[in-house]
Amino acid sequence: MADDQEKELAARASLEFVRDGDVVGLGTGSTAAYAVRFLGERVRAGLKIRGIPTSVQTQNLAASLGIPLTTLEEVQQIDVTIDGADEFDPELRLIKGAGGALLREKIVASATRSEIIIVDSSKQVPVLGKSPLPVEVIQFAQALVSRKISSLGAAVQLKRDRAGEPFVTDEGNHILECDFGRIPDPELLARTLSDMPGVVEHGLFINLASVVLMGIAGEVVEVRRRSKPIP
Ligand code: A5P
Repeated sequence: MADDQEKELAARASLEFVRDGDVVGLGTGSTAAYAVRFLGERVRAGLKIRGIPTSVQTQNLAASLGIPLTTLEEVQQIDVTIDGADEFDPELRLIKGAGGALLREKIVASATRSEIIIVDSSKQVPVLGKSPLPVEVIQFAQALVSRKISSLGAAVQLKRDRAGEPFVTDEGNHILECDFGRIPDPELLARTLSDMPGVVEHGLFINLASVVLMGIAGEVVEVRRRSKPIP
């Protein structure tokens, strides 16, 4: 599939940002999984890194490939993180979390010096909102938060797993998939959601991406922001 080729190309290009000795945040999703596999090859060839996975799924993959892992107890700063995204706009604002790992992904991104986002070309949008925005909520508050987000104009659905059961995140929470349509002011929406008691985290990633590597038509296009605040 063309998309898979684009994902693979972007993932391979992201390895240029990894140096010997780095602490590397390991993203979640099909594109990030390519990068983790490529990193595994480099580790077997002698590259010395320590990985911080953004999900149990990625932790299992990285461990199976022999990538040494560390934790946020052991390190305060992550040199580089390689992760995917559901959408990015011209300001490199992102929607993330379709895979259900947005909370750990955002925590890892917030502690990262260089956040490298790898995508296929379907992820580029002029305005965020093509895909639903995932919002992680504590189960106790789910109905309340769902009503509040609906009142903002979104169509809200509970994320379900393949068996039709409510999807449970690595931190034991549920996810509301919130279709706002176009999101003209992502900063405002991000603040509004963060202010709702019961919302653990949302999938708007603002001022976090350092660069987007997009596979398109057999090439990789690099899209940069001018600066990313160092945490
Ligand atoms: C995981 O929770 C997500 O944030 C993914 O990074 C995102 O959904 C992109 O996934 P794909 O690379 O599978 O499209």
